[in-house]
Amino acid sequence: MTKLLILPGSARRESFNRKLAGIAAAIATEAGAAVDLVDPADFRLPLYDAELEEAEGLPANAKALKQKFLAAQAILFVSPEYNSSITPLMKNIIDWVSRTETDDEPDLAAYKGKVAGLLSASPGGFGGMRGLVHLRSILGNIGVLVTPAQFALSSAYDKFDDAGQLKNPKDLESVRRVVTTLLATTAKLSA
Ligand SMILES: Cc1cc2nc3c(=O)[nH]c(=O)nc-3n(C[C@H](O)[C@H](O)[C@H](O)COP(=O)(O)O)c2cc1C
Repeated sequence: MTKLLILPGSARRESFNRKLAGIAAAIATEAGAAVDLVDPADFRLPLYDAELEEAEGLPANAKALKQKFLAAQAILFVSPEYNSSITPLMKNIIDWVSRTETDDEPDLAAYKGKVAGLLSASPGGFGGMRGLVHLRSILGNIGVLVTPAQFALSSAYDKFDDAGQLKNPKDLESVRRVVTTLLATTAKLSA
């Protein structure tokens, strides 16, 4: 059973990306994965600060998120773009989780050997796709294997019904493709 962490890049209550992450979680659970769907609102973090880290170590929420990354085999990032790039919330989580806590801890232990998939949603026409370009690059540089499949949901304000489900079956199929590609790739690498 693949252990899948799903991380939205927005903590907004009505976040389109949190909705999309919930849909992806249901698909992955149905496909047999053990899903850990993170709500970033439950893991608020200060902006990464080297002096704070020096004085106090990792904040408790950073430690908890790092444990979730360490426990996962696969990670699905579901994030909007801000000014055509990764959101500060997502970058801040990636930065805190990248930090070592002891001298004998290997570098980037939470990332190396993990497999990732990418989803985004935005009210805009690109659907957050430009942010995924940067997210893919960052993750590749810290040892994550990012699968080629990705999906960006554009005009997101019009795409969910009142129950928070995707109205268009084609969009749901695109999410399913990303999730199943991620799970299949992870299973092959673990075999
Ligand atoms: C600072 C800022 C910059 C943004 N830049 C972009 C952008 O470049 N492209 C885009 O499609 N949407 C952009 N947006 C709009 C977000 O996509 C929109 O707020 C979206 O709903 C955020 O995702 P969420 O619904 O998951 O919270 C921006 C929003 C903010 C606050």
